[in-house]
Amino acid sequence: MRTDLIVTTSHKPDAALAARAAGFAQELGCALAGRHAEGMPVVFGRYPEAQKALIVQSARLLLVDRVGHEVFFHPNLGALRLRNLLRGHPDYLQLAMQLVPGESVLDCTLGHAGEATLCAFLVGETGEVHGIEGSRELGIVTREGLRVFETENRIINAAMRRIQVVHLGHHLEFLKACPDKRYDVVYFDPFFDVAVDMTEETMGALKAFGDHSILTLEAITQAKRIARRLVVVKTARWSELLAELGITEFVGARHRRVVYGTLSVSDSEKSATEG
Ligand SMILES: C[S@@+](CC[C@H](N)C(=O)[O-])C[C@H]1O[C@@H](n2cnc3c(N)ncnc32)[C@H](O)[C@@H]1O
Repeated sequence: MRTDLIVTTSHKPDAALAARAAGFAQELGCALAGRHAEGMPVVFGRYPEAQKALIVQSARLLLVDRVGHEVFFHPNLGALRLRNLLRGHPDYLQLAMQLVPGESVLDCTLGHAGEATLCAFLVGETGEVHGIEGSRELGIVTREGLRVFETENRIINAAMRRIQVVHLGHHLEFLKACPDKRYDVVYFDPFFDVAVDMTEETMGALKAFGDHSILTLEAITQAKRIARRLVVVKTARWSELLAELGITEFVGARHRRVVYGTLSVSDSEKSATEG
């Protein structure tokens, strides 16, 4: 049983909310802490090893830690970028992925699912977007948010509803078990080492709870096996990561410090045969 995390509720839960909290505690394999209208310091005081708590509230899930970070689901930047796309402005994710309706995408670093929402819009109702999140509690916050969060824009809401969280845990666990050529595009957006722009600043709270593991060559090798068309990795422009992973092509605005590295699977297969 996990002891670094507890699940609790808002101050005065009704039976349905208490039952939901119990379900999440079971799914996460951690203790369900009764709230008894107490403040979180008191609740944490009863669980000395717990560093984080998932608070089940009637309208949302809130993830907090002992030092005061908190995160809840909000489509934020993803919704903003989708609105821009709807106004006809290009987005570098789409310039990199070139998604068309009906395609399938596996997002191996789901986070708040902002970019997965863009993908879900681009592949449309006949397409498929699956997400993996390494932090199980964060993945649950995102999964539940995608199910119920309402923006004022029904296109964004519909795109969010189409995303399926297929795995809570390290992406390699899922990739290794995935059949060859299962998805058109496989995407990675791991945390950068340093904050490089506004996109990254908004990651602050996510960083407190997220999985900071380094993207490995093994994950890219698996991704190349299960992608039909493209593997895409987002990183800082000056990062060594793309070179280390054998990715030489990238897409990104000159003035932006973030780029999307692209690895065309058919090209890499061709060069493997030629080599
Ligand atoms: C920079 S954020 C991704 C943001 C996302 N693109 C969005 O639009 O919201 C990175 C996310 O990937 C997750 N992550 C990092 N390494 C992972 C791994 N090995 N397996 C699964 N998830 C991972 C982190 O927990 C974090 O939520």
